[in-house]
Amino acid sequence: MSETTLVLIKPGGVNRNLIGEITRRIEARDLKVVGLKLINAERATVEEHYAEHRERPFFGAVVDYLCSGPVVAMAIKGTNAVKAIRAMMGATNPLEANPGTVRGDFALTIDDNLTHSSSDPEAAARELGLWFPEGTVG
Ligand code: PPS
Repeated sequence: MSETTLVLIKPGGVNRNLIGEITRRIEARDLKVVGLKLINAERATVEEHYAEHRERPFFGAVVDYLCSGPVVAMAIKGTNAVKAIRAMMGATNPLEANPGTVRGDFALTIDDNLTHSSSDPEAAARELGLWFPEGTVG
C-alpha cells in the first residue's frame, strides 16, 4: 500500500554532511521524495512534534537538539514507506541498531541519533501536517 511518511535529518546529520548519504539510501530503495526543505525549525513546531513525550526526562534535551541547527524535513512516498523507512533508519538507540541501517552505520548515541521517522501511518499524517502545512507534491 502506498504511504507517505516524514523523515527529519536532525542537526547532527546535517552537520556530519549526511544529507546526501541518507537521501541516496532512500531513493535507492525506490522511495520517492515528495517534499524536501532545509530549515531552522521553530521551537513550537519541535515541541508539538514531540508533544507525546512532554513529561519524559529527555524532552527538553531532544527539543534543544532539534533546535540546535538546521534540519532537513522530507516527505517520502512509496509502498509500505512508514515501515520501510523505520527499518532503514535502525533502532532509536544506535547501540541497538543493526549495521546497514543509518544509525547502525553512522551513529553512536541516542542523543545524536541523526534522524527521526514516523512510527506509524497515524503519526505520519500528523507529523506531515506539522512540517508540511503547505502540502507535498505527491
Ligand atoms: S520511539 O522510537 O518513539 O519508540 O522512541 P522513544 O524511546 O519513545 O523516544 C522518543 C524520542 O525521544 C528521543 N529520545 C531521546 N533524545 C535524547 N536523549 C535521550 N535520552 C532520549 N531518549 C529518547 C528518541 O530519539 C525519539 O526521537 P526520534 O526523533 O523519534 O528519534
